[in-house]
Amino acid sequence: MCGIIGILGTTDVAPLIVDGLKRLEYRGYDSAGVATIDHGRLDRRRAPGKLGNLQAALDARPLAGRTGIGHTRWATHGAPNEANAHPHSTPRVSVVHNGIIENFAELKRELEGYGRRFESETDAEVCPQLITHYLESENVGPVEAFRKAIARLKGAFAFVAIFTGEDNLMVGARKGSPLAIGRGEGEMFLGSDSYALAPFTNRVTYLEEGDIVVATREGFEIFNERGEKVSRPEMISSAADALVDKDGHRHFMAKEIHEQPEVIAHTLSRYIDAANETVRLAENAFDFSRLSSLTISACGTAYYAGLISKYWFESWARLPVEIDIASELRYRSVPYKDQGGAIFVSQSGETADTLAALREAKARGQKIAAVVNVPESSIAREADIIFPMAAGPEIGVASTKAFTCQLTALAAIAIAAGRQRGTIDDMEERRLVRALLETPRHVAEALRQAGAIEAIANDIAKARDVLYIGRGVSFPLALEGALKLKEISYIHAEGYAAGELKHGPIALIDEELPVIVIAPPDALFEKTISNMHEVMARGGKALLISDRAGIAAAGDGLWASIEAPTVEPILAPIVYAVAIQLLAYYTATNKGTDVDQPRNLAKSVTVE
Ligand code: G6P
Repeated sequence: MCGIIGILGTTDVAPLIVDGLKRLEYRGYDSAGVATIDHGRLDRRRAPGKLGNLQAALDARPLAGRTGIGHTRWATHGAPNEANAHPHSTPRVSVVHNGIIENFAELKRELEGYGRRFESETDAEVCPQLITHYLESENVGPVEAFRKAIARLKGAFAFVAIFTGEDNLMVGARKGSPLAIGRGEGEMFLGSDSYALAPFTNRVTYLEEGDIVVATREGFEIFNERGEKVSRPEMISSAADALVDKDGHRHFMAKEIHEQPEVIAHTLSRYIDAANETVRLAENAFDFSRLSSLTISACGTAYYAGLISKYWFESWARLPVEIDIASELRYRSVPYKDQGGAIFVSQSGETADTLAALREAKARGQKIAAVVNVPESSIAREADIIFPMAAGPEIGVASTKAFTCQLTALAAIAIAAGRQRGTIDDMEERRLVRALLETPRHVAEALRQAGAIEAIANDIAKARDVLYIGRGVSFPLALEGALKLKEISYIHAEGYAAGELKHGPIALIDEELPVIVIAPPDALFEKTISNMHEVMARGGKALLISDRAGIAAAGDGLWASIEAPTVEPILAPIVYAVAIQLLAYYTATNKGTDVDQPRNLAKSVTVE
């Protein structure tokens, strides 16, 4: 999603802004731009494509000025070309924007009626045009013009503006999309998140919904939606410590896949009392014994983590689980029960649909918990209970380590739920905790298959379509496997419940179609293997992911196999995830696609 940076600095800021934008690349973007004020004059450079193009434009025609804003744009309204790239300017003001302005068409008509001429197809441009309209027609100052303009906008957004003739002023607004203030020494920064601010300062203040910030180099003032001056807490951000480099790997995604043993162990340490082999949850966590029902919701990969956890909550805690994709849940008239709980799963904690579904469930009386990776995020701040995951910053757009850390946290929570509800005894808790504590070691073992998986991926790269099948907890993992492959290799892939194969997808089977069968040796193993034989009988190419005994039991005729460690079957998705991640990764590198920033995708989807 779009990334925003604003700097009131002490030297020329354009190079610093480009550095900050680099740290926001992970969010996904398709054009970029910078604007500065130099001796009161506004100027800008913009370019479609990657930041290298913007850098080339700046090298050709450098921008001076100690006051500036920058932006990476993920196109929503209008193609990713130079005219639509931000900052959007008039002779009076320059603005960067993240989010969507829902009433832009009517505002644009109104402004055109006053004779204002638009240069782009974007919704964002109405903001500088409106500000300019108020500056010129009502003779108000920049801050008042900004405030009046923001009040006219409907939708979810964040804005930062700088003004002609104002060398020591930067104004920002937050409504629906995050915006953070970073305080420096005689400098001030605004940014989409603490990663963007990390090179400059670790003193970070988050705006709240409806807030407007008026910043100078010396300080800032925050006003709430009613125009009252308010203060918001300053936090010391941990993002500054985060090493955002590839650590010798070709891609962030590879680095993040390989970090999994460590970050899963970190996540476990937040939940497990290893000495007593028990799960301990924070004091204020749900009282699962009193919950009437549990709703789980999320988007993308986080949704599949939630879907796997449904099997855990049902089997260990005998708790009815309602699960849906957040973009659906938020608009459904769900008959929420009294005393219900809801868990929202999100790496970024900023996904617009997940946040909206959370607010709806909260308004309907549900107690809200969030499994989140970013503790300062909107979802974390609006939840009653935070279940942390300790994945560290995830930069690759396709989620990997966040997925396995979400699973780890959810598994621990579901075990605790089972204990609280008396549906598992302390022996079973200890057995499951021991199995969970083994997962970092098993994941490390699974990573050792990388070479073998790369060889298979070279064949998968030739396929036009790929099918993933599994049963039980392996069904959502099949969905996640298909998602990973399509996200980064652009090969069409679908995940299916293995039992559903004969109700349609089996018609696709021919000698060209790889079918990836995820089958840990569990109670459903034989049934999945039968489905695999149905594929093979029709000439299909079956790739089995199982442990050594499972592969041996499957018999002859496999096209390929990936050997996984032997694990507690119900926890298998945490370990088997490695195989599907590496398969997608090597398929994509074989095809030469942009693994860390796949086309059209954004890391943090802050629009609906
Ligand atoms: C985007 C990302 C996915 C992610 C999903 C949910 O689509 O590309 O990798 O799974 O958003 O994001 P969240 O931050 O809420 O987990």
